[in-house]
Amino acid sequence: MRHLISIGDLDREDINYILKKAEEFEDVARGEKKLRILEGKILGNLFFEPSTRTMMSFETAMKRLGGDVINMTAQEASSIAKGETLADTIRVVSGYCDAIVIRHPLEGAARFAAENSSVPVINAGDGAGQHPTQTLLDLYTIKKECGRLDGITIALMGDLKYSRTIHSLIKALALFDMRIYLISPEALALPEDIIEDVSAEIRRARLEEVISEIDVLYVTRIQKERFPDEEEYRKVSGSYRITAETLKSAKDSMIVMHPLPRVDEIHPSVDSTKHARYFQQSFYGVPVRMAILSEVML
Ligand code: CP
Repeated sequence: MRHLISIGDLDREDINYILKKAEEFEDVARGEKKLRILEGKILGNLFFEPSTRTMMSFETAMKRLGGDVINMTAQEASSIAKGETLADTIRVVSGYCDAIVIRHPLEGAARFAAENSSVPVINAGDGAGQHPTQTLLDLYTIKKECGRLDGITIALMGDLKYSRTIHSLIKALALFDMRIYLISPEALALPEDIIEDVSAEIRRARLEEVISEIDVLYVTRIQKERFPDEEEYRKVSGSYRITAETLKSAKDSMIVMHPLPRVDEIHPSVDSTKHARYFQQSFYGVPVRMAILSEVML
């Protein structure tokens, strides 16, 4: 694997390979076992948009494997503020490190970065485009918590229009034998071109119709920062919310996932139910990113 820009860069076999590798790293990710296979390697984290989980779990993954990290997060403290282009920034930073992780508000920025980099580039989110490492950890969560990927019924709920985690995930779900329900306000529906691009059993639904049938409920935040105007955001803000009561008729084994951060779409009452897996899902980002880093760096 040279770059990881879109989940479409991987086939089912590649995905299964990374998930298997991630499982082997779990005790290292928990700090229960020492492994220094990335000693002497440096990761360059370039975050042009805010992040807690992606940036910190890449840093944790790198450090737990003996490697080091250089970060550029505050654009006002870098030469971007003096007008340096993304292409020049990438050309320079790729001389300082062995791989680059980039998050950028523009769709296509990670692919552009890869074209200008002499080291592997990993997309940590490009606008409303793709978030492939999130998808891999989402698949890992489903496999670990449901015991399988094939034969799963999943509902994708929330902002399906702007959520890059959904745009990535749905492509990967289609590689497995899954039934997919889409649950969203009309204004936040999944774009038709993405649906047409995915060959899977997909149907729009209401949560009440499918709650007792699904194995996974994957909820997303309304991506306020992607709305072209504030008024459009206000129309849909607060339009859906999961509470412990909402899940009363779910199967015991049904899991609730969320890429996080959440705002108000999952009430804290869900946290203590048997269904909540979103914090576990965040942790799984560490072994999965260890697997990705070891693939691109070794
Ligand atoms: N899920 C995710 O991408 O979280 P961050 O924005 O905190 O990285």
